[in-house]
Formats: sequence, structure tokens, C-alpha cells
Amino acid sequence: MSKRRILVTSALPNANGSIHLGHLMEHIQTDIWVRFQRLKGHQCIYVCADDTHGTATMLKAEELKITPEEFITRIQAEHELDFQDFLISHDNYYSTHSEENQSYSSLIYNRLKEADQINVKSVDQLFDPEKELFLADRFIVGACPKCKAEGQYGDNCEACGATYDATDLINPISKISGAKPVLKESTHFFFSLSNFSDYLREWTRSGTLQEQVANKLAEWLDAGLHDWDISRDAPYFGFEIPGEPDKFFYVWLDAPIGYMASFQNHCDQTENLDFDDFWSSDSECEVHHFIGKDIINFHALFWPAMLITSGFRTPTKIHAHGFVTVDGQKMSKSRGTFINARTYLDFLQPEYLRYYFAAKLNGSVDDLDINLDDFIQRVNSDLVGKVVNIASRCAGFINKQFDGKLAAQTSNHLIDEFAGQQFDIASHYENGDYGKAIREIMAMADKANQFIAENKPWALIKDDGNRDLVQQICSDGINLFRIIITYLKPVLPDLASNTETFLNISPLHWNSLDINLLNHQINRFKPLIVRVEGKTVAAMIEAGRESTAVDNEEAIEDSDPIAGEIEFDDFAKVDLRVARITNAEHVEGADKLLKLTLDIGTGQRTVFAGIKAAYKPDDLIGRLTVMVANLKARKMKFGLSEGMVLAAGPGGKEIYLLEPDDGSEPGMKVT
Ligand code: MSP
Ligand code: ZN
Repeated sequence: MSKRRILVTSALPNANGSIHLGHLMEHIQTDIWVRFQRLKGHQCIYVCADDTHGTATMLKAEELKITPEEFITRIQAEHELDFQDFLISHDNYYSTHSEENQSYSSLIYNRLKEADQINVKSVDQLFDPEKELFLADRFIVGACPKCKAEGQYGDNCEACGATYDATDLINPISKISGAKPVLKESTHFFFSLSNFSDYLREWTRSGTLQEQVANKLAEWLDAGLHDWDISRDAPYFGFEIPGEPDKFFYVWLDAPIGYMASFQNHCDQTENLDFDDFWSSDSECEVHHFIGKDIINFHALFWPAMLITSGFRTPTKIHAHGFVTVDGQKMSKSRGTFINARTYLDFLQPEYLRYYFAAKLNGSVDDLDINLDDFIQRVNSDLVGKVVNIASRCAGFINKQFDGKLAAQTSNHLIDEFAGQQFDIASHYENGDYGKAIREIMAMADKANQFIAENKPWALIKDDGNRDLVQQICSDGINLFRIIITYLKPVLPDLASNTETFLNISPLHWNSLDINLLNHQINRFKPLIVRVEGKTVAAMIEAGRESTAVDNEEAIEDSDPIAGEIEFDDFAKVDLRVARITNAEHVEGADKLLKLTLDIGTGQRTVFAGIKAAYKPDDLIGRLTVMVANLKARKMKFGLSEGMVLAAGPGGKEIYLLEPDDGSEPGMKVT
């Protein structure tokens, strides 16, 4: 086998939010592939970084009253810890806001310019006169020009699906300042993507893409490519374009270059690793990008065109995946299914999720649904009930009856059969069809269990004459287990390493599959995995709901069109009462919540309200508000919340507590 030299990347997570299930699916998928290549003995380097630039970063930092640099440093630390705890084996996790990235971005831009592929055009764009900045589509809201739904963004309408230009919105306002935007002219720099149609038509059909993806791109190519606007005006958090004061690279120009920058940074810290080996136009190494289906155009059109023009190699393969849904629906903050990495880790083991994703991934761009019942059932029945069960059934006898010593030979045809499946399993991993690999591995686990069940060592051991036979059966079982764990090692690295300790062996390797453990001393068996409990998953969902229910973006999402009609009876069920805020305090560890004590005449209620960004506790004490008095109490991470207070506004700082006029008194029913 010749040793491959492979560089692998996952898409660079945006620095303006936390790592969530969607990112995790991508990084877990990538990590399994990477660990598989390493297990086979190839050189496989996995780099990533935070994608830091853009207006969103600038505004978030401003909101927190810190510099963008401080903000991205903080987020990066959080991201790195999240990935580490999900056992993602990045060789380097860097930032697009780095010297290396600035230098490669400038280099590539200059080469594009020398090649005459940059042109300058004047564009009219909406401008926030108060904040003095040009507004990207997502920072403009207004009514849809087609269906007139209020509160739509500058690019498309969520109510009717229409797409349009931001300038077509009715009564647009800037989401940043609330000001009415004005049209303003500015000079922008464009990359002449349209010159690359023929090249890309060929490149996208050259085996670098999944067929589904190549077909989609063919549609775009047929529709004709537009030149790509790669500049943004100051103020912008990013890199200034060389020789063009106050003009910045659009975040998507320097983002993919961030792959190179992270790799360069890694080379600088690693002996015998040379950047050019991997990136020169005649490189014999491989470069693989794992990305979501939403960013295919950036990776399969702009990126190869930029690379080829600036004298670098293009990617060997782009592995695109679909989106994560939960119980059949888009991840949703209000349903509690927009689950952050940390929320998951507060409740569950990372390997459960790694296993579940592996079992469901098939190398296509179809969406991947996490069905929570199925998740619990798969983990328990496959990992606990099938795989680990093999070891726990055999180990007891070996440990207790034979001082931990395995038999001197094997006597089971299944051992060769399992090891013989390595070529099949390898090709499934290589193709990203982990689901198929898992199905074959679980079929092996079934066979191994069946073999033990049929031979009943627990019955045989009662007769002293059967001792050798029992040792043989259990030793064979342990060797079958060893093969299965080797196959699962890319997916379950911790389980594999605990198994190595239990088996008292050096790290399992693809080429140790055929090496049986004979006459070998194993260690005491400790439970390798515990069952997932339904109530733990339910608690996680509840926590997900709380940590995001008061999230800014969700508040806006939910405020869009008027909700569906309800019957009067439904309304009458809600018992609204005037309440006096008798105490308000910060909640340790909560970013958004205040703990309120409310007097509603008949007694005191404790309510956790997501209004921390809008109010200081002291300013609330003594005021009147309206609460839902008959809302079922909910157990939150910070305590029991016995109702809700009414407030209006898009969220964040802009939340206004509803205050009844003086004269009304605590306990009065709101009618
Ligand atoms: N910063 C860009 C990528 C730059 S790559 C040079 C970006 N960031 S992102 O944070 O929005 O998304 C990072 C990756 O996560 C993308 O590949 C995206 O497709 C993936 N996912 C984000 N949400 C997702 C789901 N709900 N499901 C699956 N993957 C999704 O795009
Ligand atoms: Zn509309």
C-alpha cells in the first residue's frame, strides 16, 4: 500500500455564534474520515479555523462593548473546547484573522489582478445614514414587495418565498439603527467569474464532486455565471484590500484562504511538513474539503477559479452534506431542538452522537434527521446491547476462571470472516457511506452474540471437564470483539482506547485486524459504556429550550407574520394578572435571564425572564407588569419558573416590559 498524503478541512464555523448540532455533524463526519485514513496508516492532516470577518462580528463586539479581536478570541476558545470535547482531532484550529491569512489573501488577490481577472464597478447600495455603513441584506427589514408581509429581510420573503433586491422592500428600515436607509453609490471590486464557465464546467465533472452536486452546479452554470463582488466598504471587520484604502475583502474571499493559512501555521510548528508539497499546482498530495450544501457555490465555483488563476492546486474532492433536522423538522430554538454543543455535553456522552451520525450518514447531500427516540434506541441496542455485550459476556469468565489469560489458539471461522470484511468496510468509510459500514459491523456483532448464546459458556462452566472449551469460546469472543472495535475506532475513539486498556494491547490499527490475541493476558473488564436514558434526553431538550428561548434571533423569527387564528376559548384559558415586581436579581451563570419575584395579591411567584440585556434588576423592583398566572411551572436549569411576564420587542436590548397604569393592583385579572 502506498502511503497517501492528505490534507482535510471542515468548513470554518462563523465566529458569531456557538457550535451546534449542524456544525457537529460536519466535524464528526470529517473526523471519522480523518481517523479512518490515519488508522489505515496514511498521513492525514486535519485543519480548521474560525471564520471571523464581516459586519456581524463587528456589531456583536460593539454590542458587548469589546473589540472584535477580543470577541473572536473568546469565541474561538469556546469553539475549540467544544470540538475537543466531541473528540474532533483537528491538527490545527486557527483563525481567519491571522497574519498568514492576510498574506495569502493579498497574494491571491494580487495574482488575480495581474491575471486581469479583477474589475471595478460602481454599485448603488442601501446605506444606514445614522450608523454610516452599507447594509448587507440581512440587516435590512421591510415589507415584502409581493405579499406585503412585514418584517422580511432584504433578500427573500419567509412568508411567500419571493426573492428580490433589498431596494424593492416596502418601507425598509435598518435593523441596526432603525433608520431609513438611503441609496448610496460606491466602487466595488469584482472577480471575473464569468470568464471561468468553461473551465468550471469541466472541473465540476472531473470526479471532484458527488454526482448530485455536479448536477446542481450544471444548472447554475447553464443559467450563466455573474462576476463576484469581493469588496466591502469601511467600516468592516476584515482585511483591507492592498492599495485600496477603506476597501475590504468580503469575508467569503478570505474564508477559504483560511484553510491554507491554518495549514501554513501548522507547517510552521511541525517538522518535515511543507506547505508547497500540498498546495503547489503540481502537488501529488490530496486536499479534501467537507462542507454543507449551502456553501457549495463558494467551494466548487469561486474557490477553484481563484486557485487556478493564482497558481495553486485545486481540491481533490469536495464532500458536501445536507442539513441536520430534529424529529423531522428544521432545528428550532423554540422547540428546544437548536442544540448547542455545550448543552448536549452537559447531559450526554459525545460518542453517542458520533455513533448516531455515523449510522445515518451515507455520503449524500440529503438532510440527516435526528429522531430522538431512534437515537436512544440505536445507542442502547447497538452499542450497549450488541457491541459491548460481547466483551462483558466473555470477560468475566476469562478474568475469574483463567486469571485473565486468553486461549493459545482460535477455533472460530467467524474470526477470519470478520477480518475478511476489512476491504468492504474500508471502501464504505472512504466513500463517506458510514451507515453501510455500521450496518455491516452490527451484523458482525449480532453473529458474535449469537455464537456466544449458542455455546452458553455460563452453562458449560458448571462442569469442570468443559473448562478448556469455555476458555476457548470466550477467547474467540474477545477476538471478535477486538475486530469489531477496530472497525468502530474512527467513530468511537474513546471506546476504542478504553478497549485497548482492557485488552492490554498497543493501539489497534487497521493492519492489526489479522493479528489475534493468543495466550494473552487481559485486564479486568470495566463497563465500557452506559445506557442513554430517555429522561436525560428530555432534560437536554428542555435545557436547549431555555438557553435559547430568549435568543435575539428567535424573537425576531417568531415575531414575523401574525400567528394562526385561535378560538375564543383558547384565549380565555390564559389567566393574565397584574403583578408587582417585589424583587429582581441576576442569575449566576445565565446570560439572558433575570430572576423576578412577583406579587399577584394571592402570593409570590418566581419567574425567570429573558430580559437581562434590557433591564437592570434595580430598575425593575417596585414596578407593575402583567403575567401569565396559570402557566404550568417549568423546571429550568436555574430553578422553577412559575409563569411568564409579558413584554414586547424584537429581543436583546429591545425588550419592553408591559406595564399597566398605576391604579391597577397586583392580582387584578387582565381582561
Ligand atoms: N463561515 C462559513 C464557512 C466558510 S468555509 C471557508 C459558514 N459558517 S457556518 O458556521 O454558517 O457553517 C459552517 C458549516 O456548518 C457549513 O458547512 C454549514 O453547511 C454547516 N452547517 C450549519 N448549519 C447546519 C445544519 N443545521 N446542518 C448541517 N450543517 C450545517 O458557512
Ligand atoms: Zn412575501
